[in-house]
Amino acid sequence: MSKQPIGVFDSGLGGTSIWKEIHSLIPNEDYIYLADSANAPYGPKGKDAIIALSIKNTEFLLKKECKLIVVACNTATTNAIDYLRNTYNVPFIGIEPAIKPAALQTKTNAIGILATKGTLSSELFSKTSNLFTSNINVIEQVGNGIVELIESGKLQSDEMVSLLKIYLKPMIDANIDYLVLGCTHYPYLIPLLIDLLPKHVKIIDSGEAVARQTKAVLEKNNLLNTILKKPKNEFYTNGNPEIMESLLENNFKVENLNF
Ligand code: DGL
Repeated sequence: MSKQPIGVFDSGLGGTSIWKEIHSLIPNEDYIYLADSANAPYGPKGKDAIIALSIKNTEFLLKKECKLIVVACNTATTNAIDYLRNTYNVPFIGIEPAIKPAALQTKTNAIGILATKGTLSSELFSKTSNLFTSNINVIEQVGNGIVELIESGKLQSDEMVSLLKIYLKPMIDANIDYLVLGCTHYPYLIPLLIDLLPKHVKIIDSGEAVARQTKAVLEKNNLLNTILKKPKNEFYTNGNPEIMESLLENNFKVENLNF
């Protein structure tokens, strides 16, 4: 079973930021990445709809015999991972906003969190947030419109800069020193965010932690691929393959499929 691929899915292109972290930590694995861009954004959808889409994505990856599934989407993790873990027989790795490290390290006692509505309103997020941020000023911001701009190839655009300025203003006014990126699309915004934020603000996301956790779970379950060969990376989208290829770099090919 260790030779089987790792499956990764997201509502769209954002999870490729997570695939990059996992792939660089464990490059010897085969990967199948699924971008459900036709249904993005997941953020404004209700819990039941997010669970239904997560089931569809999981079953696609299980048909391709994935040995482990990375839910590379904060919105799908916070709304659907319990359901997936209770329903299917493979290990699932999820991703959640990194509020804990931000809360433990803040010196200004104020942190910002940018995420989708689906993530910020989830029970799982409130639980984690309540555990670590009781004495901290947390400025939560729903990133309406950001995912749509990235999905339509407008990562570097005036519209994006204008949106970010609006979303960051209350955080800058509250003197945050940490900004938590709670959506896997947002690491692609880091160059823009560095330009727009005061120099002392640190930006954190959960990509590296997810990669470490994926490796640890593979090791624990004896699923790590130890055979030396040229690994395969397959990418599927039901959206625009060219936009995804431009984010992936390195000439990876993306296949367009209806699913
Ligand atoms: N990448 C997804 C996440 O991490 C984006 C959610 C969406 O599609 O709204 O939450």
